[in-house]
Amino acid sequence: MIMLPRSKLDYVKQLSRNGWNKCYGDRWTDNMHSEIVETVKRFAYADGNNHPTVLEIGTGSGSDIIHLYETMGMEVCGLDYAPNALRLIHERSPDMQLCEADARHLPFPDESFDIVFSQGLVEHYLDDKLDQLMREQIRVAERYVIIDVPNFWALYYTLKKHLLIAFDHGWDFGWETEYTEHELEQLGSRYGLTPICSYSWGYDGLTRRINKLLHFFRLGLEILEEDYGKYFQMSIGVVFQKS
Ligand SMILES: C[S@@+](CC[C@H](N)C(=O)[O-])C[C@H]1O[C@@H](n2cnc3c(N)ncnc32)[C@H](O)[C@@H]1O
Repeated sequence: MIMLPRSKLDYVKQLSRNGWNKCYGDRWTDNMHSEIVETVKRFAYADGNNHPTVLEIGTGSGSDIIHLYETMGMEVCGLDYAPNALRLIHERSPDMQLCEADARHLPFPDESFDIVFSQGLVEHYLDDKLDQLMREQIRVAERYVIIDVPNFWALYYTLKKHLLIAFDHGWDFGWETEYTEHELEQLGSRYGLTPICSYSWGYDGLTRRINKLLHFFRLGLEILEEDYGKYFQMSIGVVFQKS
């Protein structure tokens, strides 16, 4: 995990609710992550559970949760604190359950959902706020917690992002911590979770170009994704079990 010196961190913008809210425009855009959707499906029906309940925290475009709701008929809830995000999701999928709330104070009783997942959320939090976020995600989950964050080993993206953040030059998403698979597992383990599997997805700009070149020679990184993707893909996710 790359950490800038504390003094530098003081200058790093932590994106606020207003900041996120401004990211959402007039139109809903599909941003589905098939690896996440497939992983949620796989664990939702584990142990013979026919009616899984799923919460996505920081649902953003809501694409993943909409897909689970519309194609699988799962009982889902998409939670975000940005009203603009929720408005667009509601226009796209009017019957789906949504909740406007802060992820650090979830308005649900303990163990309300079989699976709780987040994509693109945990990396924006540090210190006490990260602690609150982790505790709340885990508190409302009954069986599984899935956390999906930027992968440290997407080195081009990691370096570029930190330079843009450090020099306050065109990076719009506030602070972002990247994790290796091991670091993400350790994060969950600190809160008593047991990591049971991991997955990775996506390519940063440089890796995409390298892959294009490889395709020219009838090769490609795709065959390495399953076993080695965690060393070059953009994002990494870990499925944790609650004990
Ligand atoms: C990178 S986006 C997530 C994108 C989403 N997974 C998707 O597929 O579109 C992060 C989201 O988390 C939300 N968020 C950040 N901090 C939050 C908090 N404390 N409580 C609730 N939502 C939060 C933001 O409003 C934003 O919509």
